[in-house]
Amino acid sequence: MARSSSPLVNKASPTEASPTEQRRLLRARRSSKRVTALRPEAVLDATLPGTEQQDDPGVIAAATAPKRDATLSDETLAVHAGEKMGKNGAMDTDSIATPIVSGTTHWFKSSHDLIAFKEGRRHSFEYGRYGNPTVKVLEDKISALERAESTLVTSSGMNAIVATLLALVPPGAGHVVTTTECYSEARAFIGDKLSKMGIKVTFIELNDMETLKDVLDQGDVTLFYTDCPTNPHLKCIDIKLVAELCHRKGALVCIDSTLASPMNQKPLTIGADIVVHSATKYIAGHHDVIAGCISGSDALISRIRAWNHDLGGAISPDAAYMIIRGLKTMALRVETQNHTTLRMARLLENHPKIERVYYPRLISSPWHHIAKSQMTGCGGVISFEVASDLHGVMRFIDALEIPFIATSLGGCESLVLQPAVMSFWGKSDEEKAKNGIKDNLVRFSFGIEKFEDLRDDILQALEKI
Ligand SMILES: Cc1ncc(COP(=O)(O)O)c(C=O)c1O
Repeated sequence: MARSSSPLVNKASPTEASPTEQRRLLRARRSSKRVTALRPEAVLDATLPGTEQQDDPGVIAAATAPKRDATLSDETLAVHAGEKMGKNGAMDTDSIATPIVSGTTHWFKSSHDLIAFKEGRRHSFEYGRYGNPTVKVLEDKISALERAESTLVTSSGMNAIVATLLALVPPGAGHVVTTTECYSEARAFIGDKLSKMGIKVTFIELNDMETLKDVLDQGDVTLFYTDCPTNPHLKCIDIKLVAELCHRKGALVCIDSTLASPMNQKPLTIGADIVVHSATKYIAGHHDVIAGCISGSDALISRIRAWNHDLGGAISPDAAYMIIRGLKTMALRVETQNHTTLRMARLLENHPKIERVYYPRLISSPWHHIAKSQMTGCGGVISFEVASDLHGVMRFIDALEIPFIATSLGGCESLVLQPAVMSFWGKSDEEKAKNGIKDNLVRFSFGIEKFEDLRDDILQALEKI
């Protein structure tokens, strides 16, 4: 799991410090495997008490909150950020579970109070479409995990993507560069809808950095957009390199990091300007909420937030609560999914009935070196080609007893699908080939069931082909 780096790490050696301090230093060293926050102080401001205006009656400081501690791991942040270790919005409560504030509008004690709010001297909420205390807790929690200054939670992942593109790319003048392999609906929105708004659109191959450089040399690129890893082939792009190339030419970089989850990859810490998720997947984690989120700098997220107010893309407080609850176990879920999937990938790679396995953690993967440099785990999605045809693979899928035949990913329950049937049924061979979809391709999203049960199920189903 990625963890936050600590200013303590370079301050003193363990032998010079007090026993308590020593433990903290050693913890910090163990947890500083990866460079994290570009602006660590911003992360802390978003997650820990002590930075709010103490004389502001609208802000409740958590009296029992621990001291500022930059050694906090993702596991702890997933449980506490935004809540015990947060500004806690306008929540005057000692309830451990964040309350669902269902009110659609908020009242002011006086006109003076309202003016203080309008002038930013008093923190509160006005109207549910613009913000809500429960949703704010969720946004702060995601900001802590993504090491972001700010996060906007939206009604779906597609809402997050569309709001980002509409807010950041000017109609009639903008230029979006995206990749041929990225989430199909995002690709269709960029290719079909943005181009009708007078926005220039260029598609490149995911790892074709030479073409990216050439396109950037045109000098008019507003934003580069892609998924990392991609679905269903789990390809990875070098986010740091792409950010360097784009920033040199003044272009923004937006990464859809859904397939990684915030536990495994933090694009903002390696140069991306914006990270989006379908929070429907790992973040909510239970196949029971549709949501999206966008994280980045205050300045960029404010622009997107303003657009989303017009789009009306607010998430309900009930859904936000479900995600807060789901996030508490995200570290445990994703760790299990990482392990199960890697073990299964290695096993399948050596199975006589499997022709090819797509998983970037495998040394055989062409994206292994990129994944290793920017991910701490590769998540629960794997794709593989079975040594059979369309109907043989259907027999394999139908013989599986544990996973559901269903689209989506990242939840507690394992899901399986055959892209040629789920997404490409009735489509031409040419279209399938263009998208790299073979009839024998299977996509598996591992849940949190026991590895041995899943393994035995897959092995028995392979015998049914
Ligand atoms: C990578 C990726 N991004 C975005 C989305 C869209 O998210 P949502 O379904 O929450 O709108 C999906 C949905 O499957 C996805 O897989």
